[in-house]
Amino acid sequence: MTVPGDGTRCVRAGLPDAEPHLDPDTGPVPGRDGYGRSDNPTWRALESAIGELEGGECVVFSSGMAAICAVLLTVLRPGETLMLPADGYYRTRAFAAETLAGLGVRVREVPTAGPYPPFDGVRLVLLESPANPGLDVCDLRALASAARAAGALVAVDSTTATPLGQQPLALGADLVVASGTKALTGHSDLLLGYVAGRSVGTVRQWRNSTGAVPGPFEAWLAHRSLSTLDLRLARQSATAAAVADLLAARPEVASVRWPGRPDDPAFAVASRQMRRIPGVVTFTLPDAAHVARFLRAARLVDAATSFGGPHTTADRRAQWGDPVPEGLVRLSCGLEDTADVLADLTAALDQAAR
Ligand SMILES: Cc1ncc(COP(=O)(O)O)c(C=O)c1O
Repeated sequence: MTVPGDGTRCVRAGLPDAEPHLDPDTGPVPGRDGYGRSDNPTWRALESAIGELEGGECVVFSSGMAAICAVLLTVLRPGETLMLPADGYYRTRAFAAETLAGLGVRVREVPTAGPYPPFDGVRLVLLESPANPGLDVCDLRALASAARAAGALVAVDSTTATPLGQQPLALGADLVVASGTKALTGHSDLLLGYVAGRSVGTVRQWRNSTGAVPGPFEAWLAHRSLSTLDLRLARQSATAAAVADLLAARPEVASVRWPGRPDDPAFAVASRQMRRIPGVVTFTLPDAAHVARFLRAARLVDAATSFGGPHTTADRRAQWGDPVPEGLVRLSCGLEDTADVLADLTAALDQAAR
């Protein structure tokens, strides 16, 4: 071969004698990175990591909503029934009410804490536990068993818990759906979603067709972030326990919810099925103006939606249309020192009460 020119040298510099992305004879080879929308090594590494933690096969998506919609749209057909939480993530409920109902799917909302009607005739039961924002918890093993006995498929939105908090597949669910945007990756710097289960080929195909794919850089960041999940959850959970106690002792605060508190209505079932309780606490201040004063006064609580990140954040949920009291706040404990968060909360609540 003649000596290559500079253009050729630059294009080929440092490349191994690569395997071709397509087999010259037969074309596409699964797992050989034929095209970035179908497959790439960064996703495969992340999928195997999350799959290992969830106890199933994992398909990553561009966001939690992309993952949830992939399940809803691949499972449900016109005339079939979806049961989903009345108190769950509002975008999922909005998608069901606006898009699925428009396609002829029957949508039935049930509160996470129950009571649950019989599952006969239901095609898909979507549970969310702990539910966002109210943090009610449902008995995943009992509900999955009853729903499957009636012929329904069971998916659990396990976003708030993360795979270290609970293992819905081991408790009998067919699928886990989750936003990886929250505590799973935990730095408030990327959007990600995933579906995990024993049989996820259809949603993998759906991802390829719809292009609801995460960027490889997000996937790489997410995988790197998993290494600190245990440490982050430990701090967030410990702070949440202390914050819940502090809030419960305040006269202006009502309805403190944290499933790890022994007097929380969800405590018994949460202690049975969860390995750790997330760092999110929900509570109610007298009204929207009181919440605004509290958020303005706080120095270590950023007014922001989302949760599970390194910074303590809070938002008033009624502003998003959640069917909750005007003063209901969802507070996500970050990675600051617990004592500093407690001192800041006390000062901000004192100031807001004046
Ligand atoms: C319980 C739950 N599921 C799904 C989602 C959607 O996730 P994403 O924002 O990654 O689309 C969220 C987002 O807040 C959530 O809280």
